[in-house]
Order: sequence, then structure tokens, then C-alpha cells
Amino acid sequence: MKEIHNFTILQRRQLGSQYFALTLQHAGNMQPVLPGQFVEVQVDGVREVMLRRPISIHDADPERGTLTLLVQTVGRGTRRLAELREGDRLNLVYPLGHGFTTDIAPGSRVLMVGGGAGIAPLLMLSKVLKAKGVACTVLLGGRTAELIPVRDEFEPYATVGIATDDGSLGHHGLVTTHPAFAEPYDMIYTCGPTPMMKAVARAAAERGVCCEVSLENMMACGVGACLCCVTDTDQGHRCVCKEGPVFDISTMKKWYQC
Ligand SMILES: Cc1cc2nc3c(=O)[nH]c(=O)nc-3n(C[C@H](O)[C@H](O)[C@H](O)COP(=O)(O)OP(=O)(O)OC[C@H]3O[C@@H](n4cnc5c(N)ncnc54)[C@H](O)[C@@H]3O)c2cc1C
Ligand code: FES
Repeated sequence: MKEIHNFTILQRRQLGSQYFALTLQHAGNMQPVLPGQFVEVQVDGVREVMLRRPISIHDADPERGTLTLLVQTVGRGTRRLAELREGDRLNLVYPLGHGFTTDIAPGSRVLMVGGGAGIAPLLMLSKVLKAKGVACTVLLGGRTAELIPVRDEFEPYATVGIATDDGSLGHHGLVTTHPAFAEPYDMIYTCGPTPMMKAVARAAAERGVCCEVSLENMMACGVGACLCCVTDTDQGHRCVCKEGPVFDISTMKKWYQC
């Protein structure tokens, strides 16, 4: 069930110049959340920012009642969120959208490909799949080493590969040219810039591997009321906030082929 709740910021971590992570404490019983779901964050104190901002759930600890968000500072709303400090309140609508498929057989091999802030939803996914006995490889891509903010967090749950456009860390080049990308997998998940996700989806389709993409279309209401986030699928227009953000590429040929 969705709820609107005032969380308290328990911990704030600055991760390089562009990223920060906020761990938020729920007072009372937190709603169950799934990997790939997101929250809509209210941004207070900036007159021009009227709409909530969608941010993926990076991590969750249901026993402690905490959620963690990983945020890249890109504009007015996220700059204001970056100013928040431990003890401040943050109003969220959560959990929103449909998450990734986690019903994967033990012993399967899966690949997760994340670019930029799109790495955020992959941490909880790798935790959940590792607990099910699935072997996870995570490839994280960014322009420079500084823009790969949370590599260490993935290491207990997955084999981690890095690709940077400038070669400052890991493989020099696009994440889709990393040697681990060419290995065989039973399932591929991806979230990040649209050209990257389309390249991953095309490669998965060519190999006949199931693949899910998590779209980051611009959003307003986050609950399927305003239709500003629609994407064209093989089955017609779909609301990314309500019917996504995660889509199976078998329904998205129109999207990834153009
Ligand atoms: C389902 C979903 C999950 C997301 N998860 C995360 C996350 O975990 N961490 C994170 O840092 N960001 C995430 N984003 C993107 C985040 O919502 C935007 O970066 C944020 O709304 C920008 O707000 P702003 O006020 O700072 O920027 P604005 O001042 O509104 O815009 C600044 C710049 O950011 C661009 N921008 C705005 N919204 C988006 C968007 N949705 N996608 C791409 N570019 C955008 C604008 O075109 C503009 O160039 C997610 C988006 C969606 C839809
Ligand atoms: S953001 Fe309003 S319908 Fe999706």
C-alpha cells in the first residue's frame, strides 16, 4: 500500500562532488518495498520546485525501518535535497511503481548494467538475488571514476565491473564494451541513460536473453494521474510511473529499436 510519510534523515553521506546518500528513518511500521520501486520526494524551501521528484529506492532495511536514497545533484530540486542534514525531515510518497522480477532460479547467472544515477536501484536487487542463490555480475558505467559513487556497496553481493568513458577507473570505454558484458547470462537488468539501456536491450534481444529496463522518464504525479510520463510500447502507451518503471523488453521493441 502507498503512503505519505515524514521520514527523518538518520545519515547523510557525500559521495564525490555530485552524489550523496540519505538514509531515512520511518517512525512506525514501514511499508514493504521491492527492488526497482521508487519514491516521490517533496522538495521544501524552493519556490520554483512545485512537483515532487522521483528517486529510486537504493536500499531498505525493513527491520530498522530505513530506506536509503542515492541522489545525483543535477538541478534545483536535487540541489536543495543536497543541503538537508541529519535530523531534518523528508516527506515521501512510497512505494511507487512495479519493481524488477526477482523470481529467479537459484544457480542462475544474471547481469545488471547501471549508468549514472541508474545504478541506484541495482543495489537492493543484487542483495535480494544473492540471498536467493543467484550469481550476480554488476557493471557500473560513468564518465569518470568520480561518477561511480558506490562500487564498494555492491561487492558483498556481486562480481563488480567498472567502465569509464575516460579510462580513469576500470575498463576504458562504454559499459557495453566491458569484457563481462559478452559473457552468457540467464537474465539482464538495466537502468541508466536511455542510449545505454537501448544498447543493452538490443544486445539481450540478439542473444535471446530475458531483459528488464527501468525507465527514468520525466514525472510529475508519480501515481498515473497526469500522463506526463508515458512511453510507447508494443502494446500501446504505458505510464512509466504506474505500469513501470520496469518493463520487459519483449514488450518494448518499438522503444529500443529506434
Ligand atoms: C523512476 C525514476 C527514478 C529515479 N531515480 C533516481 C535516483 O535514484 N537517483 C537520482 O539521482 N535520480 C533519479 N532519477 C532522476 C531524478 O528524478 C531527476 O534527476 C530529478 O527529478 C531532477 O530534479 P531537479 O529539480 O534537481 O532537476 P531539474 O531542475 O528539474 O532539472 C535539471 C536537469 O535534470 C534533468 N532531469 C530532470 N528530471 C530528469 C529525469 N527524470 N531523468 C533525467 N534527467 C532529468 C532536466 O532535463 C534538466 O536538464 C529518477 C527518475 C525516475 C523517473
Ligand atoms: S507521472 Fe503522472 S502519470 Fe506518471
